[in-house]
Amino acid sequence: MREIKQNTLGVREAVETRRAHKTLDPNHKMTDEEAKAILESAILSPTAFNIQNWRLVWVKDMELREKIREVAWGQEQVTSASMLLVICGDLRAWEKNPERYWRNSPTEVQEFILPAIHAYYAEKPLTQRDECMRSGGIITQSLMLLAEDMGYKSSPMDGFDYDAVGKLIGLPEDHIIVMMLAIGKPLKEAWPRGGQLPLDEVVIENRF
Ligand SMILES: Cc1cc2nc3c(=O)[nH]c(=O)nc-3n(C[C@H](O)[C@H](O)[C@H](O)COP(=O)(O)O)c2cc1C
Repeated sequence: MREIKQNTLGVREAVETRRAHKTLDPNHKMTDEEAKAILESAILSPTAFNIQNWRLVWVKDMELREKIREVAWGQEQVTSASMLLVICGDLRAWEKNPERYWRNSPTEVQEFILPAIHAYYAEKPLTQRDECMRSGGIITQSLMLLAEDMGYKSSPMDGFDYDAVGKLIGLPEDHIIVMMLAIGKPLKEAWPRGGQLPLDEVVIENRF
């Protein structure tokens, strides 16, 4: 067991208490151990074919954060967060030594799955992009719940100029940005929930 203090919230409690918090304490420092614990757990999040196509840019340089904030509607959580992550996806993770994603599996599994990975993504740019968005969304939720468990709050963001942030972080040509995530200690309560849709509008039984 890690020695990091965790709140040990139940999963349900973490899901229900998570809110987007935009007013974060700029003076709070997350320890390296806390950061490592969040990140190590988050990368156990599932990806299709286990291709682990997320790439998390942890922006520690405060000057860079200031520049990102300028192209992110001036949103203060970009600079006040204890941890700022730009969640990215590698569009070509599926073809970059894919045998490492299945190295612990029996040979017969590898022989089946490696050609299947190729067939699923090769020459399918939209599928490659969709997969980055799916994986990126899932890992972002993991990060938010892990942060919650450690007494932090979070703020997912797509309110920024993607091209400009890409330039600032040196995004490789075969990567895309999914969203940004600010994690920190809140200075005030979140706004009341905006207004949730009823279950019977969002859950469809069997067919639309
Ligand atoms: C993908 C995504 C992008 C978002 N982008 C922003 C943003 O740029 N700025 C912001 O203030 N909130 C942003 N939000 C927060 C949403 O407004 C918020 O999650 C939503 O209103 C529901 O509130 P809750 O998260 O507190 O339950 C974003 C949320 C998501 C999931």
